[in-house]
Order: sequence, then C-alpha cells, then structure tokens
Amino acid sequence: MTSMRTQVGIIGAGPAGLLLAHLLQRQGIESAVIENRARDYVEHRVRAGVLEQGSVDLLNDSGVGARLQLEGLVHHGIELRFGGQGHRIDMTALTGGRCITVYGQQEVVKDLIRARIDAGREIMFEVSDVRVADIDSSAPKVTFVRAGEKIELVCDIIAGCDGFHGVCRPSIPAGVLSTFERTYPFAWLGILAAAPPTHDELIYAYHQRGFALYSMRSPEVTRLYLQVAPEEDIGNWPDERIWEDLHTRLETDDGWKLREGAIAEKGITGMRSFVVEPMQYGRMFLAGDAAHIVPPTGAKGMNLALADVRVLAQAATAYFKTGARALLDAYSATCLKRVWRAEHFSWWMTSMLHRFPSDDVFQQRLQRSQLEYVVGSRPAAASLAENYVGLPFS
Ligand code: APR
Ligand code: PHB
Repeated sequence: MTSMRTQVGIIGAGPAGLLLAHLLQRQGIESAVIENRARDYVEHRVRAGVLEQGSVDLLNDSGVGARLQLEGLVHHGIELRFGGQGHRIDMTALTGGRCITVYGQQEVVKDLIRARIDAGREIMFEVSDVRVADIDSSAPKVTFVRAGEKIELVCDIIAGCDGFHGVCRPSIPAGVLSTFERTYPFAWLGILAAAPPTHDELIYAYHQRGFALYSMRSPEVTRLYLQVAPEEDIGNWPDERIWEDLHTRLETDDGWKLREGAIAEKGITGMRSFVVEPMQYGRMFLAGDAAHIVPPTGAKGMNLALADVRVLAQAATAYFKTGARALLDAYSATCLKRVWRAEHFSWWMTSMLHRFPSDDVFQQRLQRSQLEYVVGSRPAAASLAENYVGLPFS
C-alpha cells in the first residue's frame, strides 16, 4: 500500500469538488481530488444549466470565468406560461440589476478541470473502492485503488463532494445525521435538441397535461423538459410523442410555435428534496449533492454546490493559515441557511407549476390563483426574482 499526504482530501470531481480544489489552490492550500469516473464521462454528463449572479461572480473572481464570459447566455427575465398566455418576470428590473447566466454544468466542470491541470495539479480519475476512515480523529484517511494499486491518503480534513450516491455521507456513524426529505409524484423527461432557440428566455409552463420547461444551451441547442410519471419508461416516449406533448403544453393563444430539431440526448430524472443536518462530522465536511438535493424547478442544484464550497474554502483557509477553527465549526450552520432558502424556493416553484396526481379541482384553482398573483403583483414577482437570481452571499 502506498501512503500519501495532503491537507484537504476531496472526494468527487463534480462542480463542488473541482471548485473547492481551485479555491484552495489559489490560497496555497494542498488538496488531492479523487473521482471514480473517467474525465471524459464527467465532462459530458448533461446536467443543470443555470448559474445565479453570485455563482458567475465567484467563477469570474477566481479566474475561471473566461469561457463563461464568452459563451454563457445572460438572461434578464424568465417567462411563466399558463392559460395560453406568457407572462414575463423581469428579473433584472425586480432585483436592482441582477441576472442569471445559462451555461451547462459540464462546461463549468471542463473549465475547472482545465484550471487544475494548468496549475500543474492532477485529478485522480477512475479510482475504485473509495473509503473514508478515522473521520473523528485528527488524521482522517481516504483509501482507494488506482490502476491496481492500493493507496492511503492521510488528510487534515476531508471534503465529501461525491454527490447524492457517494460514500462520504453513509460513512458518518448512525444517529449523527438528521434527514429531511420529500419525494414528488412525478419526474422530468429531458431532451437536448439540435434546434436554435425559439425564444430567448426560459419558459416555465403550467398546463393540464403537466409541467413543461423550455430552456437552451447555445444558439444551436434547445433543452426541453416534460413532467412525466415517476417510474416512467423512456421507451414509452418516442420522439414524436415528446414533440407533440411539448407543443401542447407550451402553446399560446397567439400561435407561438416551438422549433423542432434532432434529439441528441434523452433521459428521465426523479424529483426529490433532501437535506442532512449537520453537513459535517469530525473532520469531514459534506458539500453539494452529498448533503442536499433540490428538485430542478428552481434551478438551484449547481448554485448550492458552488456556494457550499465557497464557505468551506474560506473556513479551511482560515484554519490552515491561522489555526482558527471557528469558521470550520460553523460550516454546516452557515451553509444550511442558504440551503433551506433554496429548498423552500425549489419546493414552492415545483408545487406551483406541476400537476399532482392527487390534486382535485380546488387545488388546481389555488395553483392558478398563485400563478396569477405572482405575475400580477410586483412584490410577489420580486420575491420570485430575488430567489431565482440568488440571494447575495452573506
Ligand atoms: N468516489 C469518488 N468519486 C465519487 C464517488 C466515490 N465513491 N461517488 C461519486 N463520485 C463522484 C461522481 O462521479 C461525481 O463526479 O462525485 C461527483 C459528484 O458530483 P455531482 O454529482 O455533480 O455533485 P456536486 O459536485 O455536488 O454538484 C451538484 O450536480 O446533480 C447535479 O443538480 C446537481 O447541479 C447539481 C450538481
Ligand atoms: C436547464 O436548462 O437544464 C434548466 C433550466 C432551468 C431549470 C432546470 C433546468 O429550472
């Protein structure tokens, strides 16, 4: 067995793990990043695509925003569509000038991997048998197998950035964590289509047949989602059926027509809300999807992952530079404030916009009233906009 040492052992090379490694490196703090998938896989995994203003600022301020500046699509509003009409929420006007940027999560991942390689540091891809040990001691360890060789990595702290299905959260002893959870009685079927966007902002549509979302990735690629049954088989959704439902759910009285294109990617994702408290145990700190999940309706998943590691990088920097533990000790409490705000917002958007199989007509009237209030009242629209563009970092 080979033994290695680092200051911060980072498990997972998603947005959380990669940005943490980058922020630490800028402060002269050593880290080792281990990832069980291949580089090509993580760079091409199609995921979320909306960056809050604060996430864009964070990436720019830390020197990894060059391509984001060139290729990111800046949006100043979104549309809520129901009853055959579109209603624009002017986010920039309602938030004193803030906006969002559409830029695929895998593009953020590519930029961060490039930054690490350019800094002369490596990412250990395709490792297996990852385990954490001694997390409540002063020398926590990560063990794994790399190219057939067993490695023990001794760390000062461990960052569990290994997503919802990772090994870090389950390594915390039973009884330490409290779990808060909601599952939803539907899923999202998502496609990428080779079609130029039909509209230059995102459209969230509430319809009798279920929710639909119109989004994009570039001037050539449209991203679209349909609410489907939770256990839906993708085989039931040939391309023609997908387009037919998208046309129906997104149609307007004035004849707006969605542009079609060859479908390049098709997948179904379940919807859940999930939080564990606390987000730390001993010398291990959970960040991103390892600690919390939001349904995608609020576009918050990637932003929360980036916000967590911003807090963790600051806390770890204070610890390594001065020995002060206060920020590390406060990590979970600091993150959970933003996490719960995003949990509420994501649950609220989800509840307002989807058809719930159990809903009666009374419930549907309530949803409709809520939608009309949000688009008709400036304070209500401002509240949606403030949450959507993201609350400033405290
Ligand atoms: N060992 C090493 N790496 C692991 C392990 C393991 N045992 N288990 C999982 N991983 C890796 C995954 O392959 C993935 O690359 O950890 C990484 C976790 O990355 P993400 O799932 O992208 O999570 P995170 O960085 O927290 O970003 C959250 O991802 O799911 C979306 O909507 C979510 O946008 C949000 C973002
Ligand atoms: C996306 O473009 O993938 C996207 C946009 C907004 C959401 C969710 C996903 O709320």
